Parts: sequence; structure tokens; C-alpha cells
Amino acid sequence: MSNRKKVVAGNWKMNLNTKEAKDLCSKLLNDCNTNKVDVIFCVPFTNFNAVNSVINGTNIKLGAQNFYYEEKGAFTGEISADMLLDSDVKYVIIGHSERRQIFKEDNEMINKKIKSALSKGLIPIVCCGETLTQREQNETLDFIKSQIVTAFDGINSNDVTKIIIAYEPIWAIGTGKTATSDEAEEVCAYIRKVIKDLYNSDLSEQIRILYGGSVNAKNAKELFEKENIDGGLVGGASLKEDFINIVNY
Ligand code: PGA
Repeated sequence: MSNRKKVVAGNWKMNLNTKEAKDLCSKLLNDCNTNKVDVIFCVPFTNFNAVNSVINGTNIKLGAQNFYYEEKGAFTGEISADMLLDSDVKYVIIGHSERRQIFKEDNEMINKKIKSALSKGLIPIVCCGETLTQREQNETLDFIKSQIVTAFDGINSNDVTKIIIAYEPIWAIGTGKTATSDEAEEVCAYIRKVIKDLYNSDLSEQIRILYGGSVNAKNAKELFEKENIDGGLVGGASLKEDFINIVNY
């Protein structure tokens, strides 16, 4: 077993009003064991205050699902790193496949966001993952490598282990179809090797790599016990009490 601390991050996506957010947090709070696991709630911007009012003083950390890398200015509809920090946000998801596919974020933008987040002291949760076609055509590892190499372009070795990587096969997101623990482990181990080749084995052994894609209370244990899987990025199941069982796997 590695000594990397596990991470379980909930990705609420575009769900829950403020009342629902507070209710959910209150339910999860008491039963999630946060001693051995870093627990993060990545919530909609409109829920920051509501969630903070519940998690304040606990070990649970607040995360955002997106931001824009520019400092400030004429970027209608966007939110800056400083604005996130102002709301006590500590983590931010970058390069989620929904941002890549629906909002056309490319590798270059993702790299800029990672650099900007790091420069502000936000912890990036950087997503990568292949489509079903890429998996079927045996292109998964090459594709993941290209995503990781471009995401980490120009990232200083001092900053590498501040980043959390989330491997999320697109075909497993929100589909109820999970990668097997062996499939997930294969890619997470490969990502660790890519980081080793880019930097060194010391850093690659420290960086935390999560699996995401239909993680639930039933499959979490098997996935998280794999050597190279350091926890999960959880969508649908993070909106339910199931999340407690995932954290306490
Ligand atoms: P899912 O989403 O757990 O609902 O598959 C994961 C994610 O998109 O991060």
C-alpha cells in the first residue's frame, strides 16, 4: 500500500438549489470519516455560501467545477481564481470531459487554467479520459498520454504533486457503466508512468490519481484498493447518502 492519502471528491455538476445543498451537506457531514480521506465537495458557484455555512470548521473542503484563467475583465459569464478564493474554495476541477465536449475547452486552455490555479494556490483536479471509440480502437493509452503531456506542459516540478489527476473514461461517466478495477488500474498506473517519465519516480509516487465514472457504494472499495488508484471523483452518487459509504469504503 502506498502512503498517499486517499481523496474522494464529489462533483455535484449543475444540481441542487441552496436549500437542497445545505440539507445534503448536513446529512453527509456527520457520517463521512474524514480522518483517512480528503473529502471535497465540488459544488455549483451559487452553493458556495450555503455549503460553507455547513462545512465550516470541519475537515471537508470546498471545490469548484470550473473557472477562467484570466485575472479579471470583460469575460462575460466567467469566474476568476480570486473570486473562488474569496469564497474559501480550495480545489477546482479542470478539464472535465463535459467542459471539453460541451464547452469546447482544449488542451491549451486546460494547461493555462492549471497554471493559473497553481499560481493562486488553488489545487487543480485535472481530468483526462478516452471515448468508447478510442478504447475500442486501442488508442486509450496514447490518448491519455497526450492529454497528460499537454496538461503538464511548463508545470514546474515543485508544483507537480499539488495537482490531483482524475482518470475518467468518458464512456463510464453517468452511464452506470464502470471501468473494471483492472481497466482503471491499468490506466492509472500508466498515468503514473507518464508523470515519472516527465519528472521522476519520486514525484510520480507522490502524485494522487483518482478514478471517476459511475463510482458507487458497491464498486468503490474494489477500485480504491488498487495500487495506483488514490480515490475517486464521484458524480451522480455524490448527490446521495451513498457518498458516505464511498468515503467510508
Ligand atoms: P458519474 O460522474 O460518477 O456520475 O459517472 C463522474 C464525473 O463526471 O466526474
